[in-house]
Parts: sequence; C-alpha cells; structure tokens
Amino acid sequence: EIGEIAEQQGCNAYVAGGFVRDLILQVQNTDIDIVIEGDGIRLAKALAAQRHGIVHPHEKFGTATVIFPDQSRIDVATARLEYYDHPAAMPTVEHSSTKLDLYRRDFTINAMAIHLNPKRFGILVDYFNSQNDLKERRIQVLHNLSFVEDPTRIFRAIRFESRLDFTITKHTEKLIKNTVQMNLFDRVEEPRFFHELKLILSEDNPIPALRRMAALKLFPFLWPDLRPNLKIDRRFLHFLTQANQAISWFKLLYLPDKIEPWMVYLLAIMSRSRTKELIAFCNRFSLPPRQRRKLIAQKTEAERVAQEMQKRPFLRPSETYWLLHELDIEGLLYLMAIARKRYIQQAVSHYVTTWRNVVPLVRGDELKAMGYIPGPLFRTIRNHLIEVQLDGQVGSREDALSFIQ
Ligand code: CTP
Repeated sequence: EIGEIAEQQGCNAYVAGGFVRDLILQVQNTDIDIVIEGDGIRLAKALAAQRHGIVHPHEKFGTATVIFPDQSRIDVATARLEYYDHPAAMPTVEHSSTKLDLYRRDFTINAMAIHLNPKRFGILVDYFNSQNDLKERRIQVLHNLSFVEDPTRIFRAIRFESRLDFTITKHTEKLIKNTVQMNLFDRVEEPRFFHELKLILSEDNPIPALRRMAALKLFPFLWPDLRPNLKIDRRFLHFLTQANQAISWFKLLYLPDKIEPWMVYLLAIMSRSRTKELIAFCNRFSLPPRQRRKLIAQKTEAERVAQEMQKRPFLRPSETYWLLHELDIEGLLYLMAIARKRYIQQAVSHYVTTWRNVVPLVRGDELKAMGYIPGPLFRTIRNHLIEVQLDGQVGSREDALSFIQ
C-alpha cells in the first residue's frame, strides 16, 4: 500500500533499518521504518488518510510518525542531504538518494532497505555488503566517525552484540575505545544515554552486555561513584545473577502485574552505592520524577528490610507481611537479589505468590452490620484479621466472625 501511494506521488519508498535486518534473520520486529525518496511527510499524510491514522509530522526533519487506530505505528523519513548554509541562493534541503540515508546509520547490519514500489517490490538494496556481515554475524560501523557523531551507538553495538549473539569487529571495537578515551560522551544529551542503558537492562539477560560495558570502560561514565575501571567482580556478578533469577522466576508466574525489570538490574548495579549516589545518577540522566521516586524508595526500603530480615530468621508470615507490604514488585525482586540468606528469598516468594493477596474474611459492610462504625477501628480490625489469617489462627469465615466477636 505504501508502495502504491509512493508510485502515485511519483517517488520511491523503501522499508529500511532494523526491520530489514530482522526480516533476514527471521526475527519478529514490528517497528517499521520507511524511507521516501521524495516527500516523506506528504506520503505519511496520504497513508494516514487511507488508513484512518493520525500523522505527527516533524517538518524540520522531513519525518513523520503515523499512528493507526490499533495503535500500531510507522515512522516515515525523507532521504535527503544535510542542510546547507550556502551563500549562493541554494535550497537549504536537497532531496537525495537512499544511499546517503543508509550510510548515515549506525551499523552495516542496519543499513539495508527493501523497495516497496509495486514494480520493484521486494528487491533488497544493499550498498555496504550488509548481507555478508549478517551472515558472518558481525557488527561494524559504516564509517569511522559513527561514534563521534553519536556516542549512544556504543551502547547499541553492545546491545545488538549480546541480543543477536554477534561480534563487534576489531576495527569497530577500536573506534569505541577511542571514543571512550576522548570522553566524547559529554557532548550528547544525557537522557539518550539513559534510554540506551534502559534498553540494555530490558533485554532478557543483560549480564553479558554489562560485562562488555565494564570491559570497554563505560561504567565509570555511567556510575562515576563505582571504582574506576571496575571489572565486574564476583560479588557484583552475584547480585546481578540473583536479580536475573528473581526476574525469570517472577515472569514464570505469569501474574498480571506489569514489572520494569530494568529497575531491578539498576538497583542491583547500585546496591553497594549509597542513596546519594543513586540520586546523583537520576540527576545526571534527568530521569522522570516517577522513576526517580520509585527507584529511591525501593532502594531504601528493600535495603532496610534486608537488614531486618537478616537479623530475624524466624518471622511469622504476618510479620513478613508488614515488613514487605510497602515494597513494589521491583523492590521485592531487588530484595531477593541482595538477600544473603535462602530463607529471605523463600519468605519473599511466599509473599509475592500468596500472602500479599490476602483479603480479610469479613467484609467492611459485614462489620458495619455488626455495629462497628467506619473509621480507624475498622482498619485495626482489618489488619488484625489479616494477621490471624496469615498465621493460620483463623481458617474459616466462621472462625473470623467469632474472632471479632
Ligand atoms: N539508528 C542510528 N543511530 C542511532 C539510532 C538508530 O543510526 N543512534 C538507525 C539504525 O539504523 C536503526 C534505525 O535508525 O536501524 C531505527 O532505529 P531503532 O528503531 O532504534 O533501531 P532498530 O534497529 O529497529 O532496533 P530495535 O530492534 O532495538 O528496535
């Protein structure tokens, strides 16, 4: 359909980037990235009109995002030259070929395109021998200044390497090391780095990528408070592995709770740092207030609870309940990651799967019918009921009712 609109508008359309990479690798990818040799925004508008979508154009960049009624989206870009501030009366933007658009991308494996116009539909455009790199499972840049232009690509290289089980070529690795040495990071808007880190920490198992980041000396940049040139030492790895196990365990429960695993990993990485350093990290990367508040609260609370539980191995279920009830799932999983004793993990797992869902056997309206007036007393009774139920002192509704009376 995009190809047909392009044909009507007299331009060429391609699907490009990660979508093509994943198509060849036979991996699912729903992020569609379209390149138009012509006017990308005009095409996006026509596509949205046909499919009842909404267009968000960015005139300055010649790009647009189309969002369809089912919330799926397509990004449309215009293949063009850079802006020229030429003294002569030249147009500021010139339309150019897709080749330049592809050349400006991060890695060869992300620099292929496929024709969409009906007559050439499905033909692969591969100017940079990308297919071969895919076959050889190599990650390499298209030109030497790639990381200088955009240092966040360093994190992308590491993420792809670990996710796809590819290898960064020696030359590209050298360019990464040079960029790190030149300390070019400071030039880039900080939240973009955090975004890339978050993507790494959102992979199924981010540990190999984190090891690679440590080896490439990226840790001192992200966490200046951790020892410089920190190699991932044994204890640190232990926390990360436990975080990974706790998250995998939780995912296998298939509960409706939505979790943000990256938070658990971030907390595990900073488990030996103080709250002050976590705050500094949040400031440095301008984390949104909600995430910042949540990270700080979960760190302080989980660490407090860990200490408390370490001291008291024989807690009753109700005592565990009150210790844990302020923690979010991320905080609970973090607690499992830093717990030094097996019984702590066991108690947390009981809490997550059953105890936290306890409902008093006598409802509020029933209490009212019994003559209790809603207010603080209600809460006290409710809490007390939760306790006796958890500790097995009350097993049925009848028990609960007679307990109250
Ligand atoms: N890109 C780039 N430099 C960046 C980010 C992106 O050159 N710092 C290019 C890449 O060629 C990429 C395309 O823009 O293929 C789209 O970016 P994005 O959707 O972030 O990447 P994907 O490759 O689709 O990665 P993912 O599978 O993680 O979505």
